[in-house]
Amino acid sequence: MVMKQLSAFAAAVLASLAVSAQASDFAFYKLSLIWPTSVCISAPQNCITPIPKIFTIHGLWPTLKNGTAVPPYDPIDNNCNPNPDSAGVAVGKLAPIQARLQTKWPNLIRSVSSSLFWQTEWSHHGMCSDYPQDPLSYFTTTLNLADDSKYDPLKVLGVQPSNTPHPIDTLLENVKKNVGFYPQISCNMPIKGTKQLYLKEIRFCFKRATPPSAPQNCPDDMDDLCRSLPPAQRTVMFP
Ligand SMILES: *[C@@H]1O[C@H](CO)[C@@H](O)[C@H](O)[C@H]1NC(C)=O
Repeated sequence: MVMKQLSAFAAAVLASLAVSAQASDFAFYKLSLIWPTSVCISAPQNCITPIPKIFTIHGLWPTLKNGTAVPPYDPIDNNCNPNPDSAGVAVGKLAPIQARLQTKWPNLIRSVSSSLFWQTEWSHHGMCSDYPQDPLSYFTTTLNLADDSKYDPLKVLGVQPSNTPHPIDTLLENVKKNVGFYPQISCNMPIKGTKQLYLKEIRFCFKRATPPSAPQNCPDDMDDLCRSLPPAQRTVMFP
């Protein structure tokens, strides 16, 4: 009897190993939050009105250990999960959280529907996540992380929107002090003819889990555009 139970247990362990070997292989999740004012400053007429005064969601991205995002699902070249929901099917399952999504995860570009944005995020990131057939949980999990005041950028960045630039290092250290871990800062350079960086996004990294909840350092604390300037010029406007 004991033997029988043991071998059933061993078989179950082997089966789960076989499944995890097939499943998408990534190290952590990156929650990316956008500051709409920075994105819309160069062409506000192209943005939705009113321009949100909150950090909105860009996405929740399965990410490799070295900080590279998992490439989009492809049935031949990147078969990360068996039979993920198609983008059309996925968006069709989001009715119960439509209002939350519209508020917190809108497409900022006026001419493109939010639904199309969610479909793109699903195809590029959701299909290779731990929720390939459960888009409602994938999007809900993302909303819950973004709504958690522990990760409210307006609290943890240590500064409020203003017209003075801030050293990126200061913002990184503020977040480290307030959250316990380093985020990633992403920049844009929206004003033609200047090399002034703007704070475009802040990204928080979470250990891979369903749902992700334990924060960790992001391996790369700023993106390539922030890093393209010499360290002394790495200041961002946060308007
Ligand atoms: C990260 O790892 C992946 C997979 O091993 C590799 O394809 C990619 O080039 C790496 N990226 C960097 C920036 O090292």
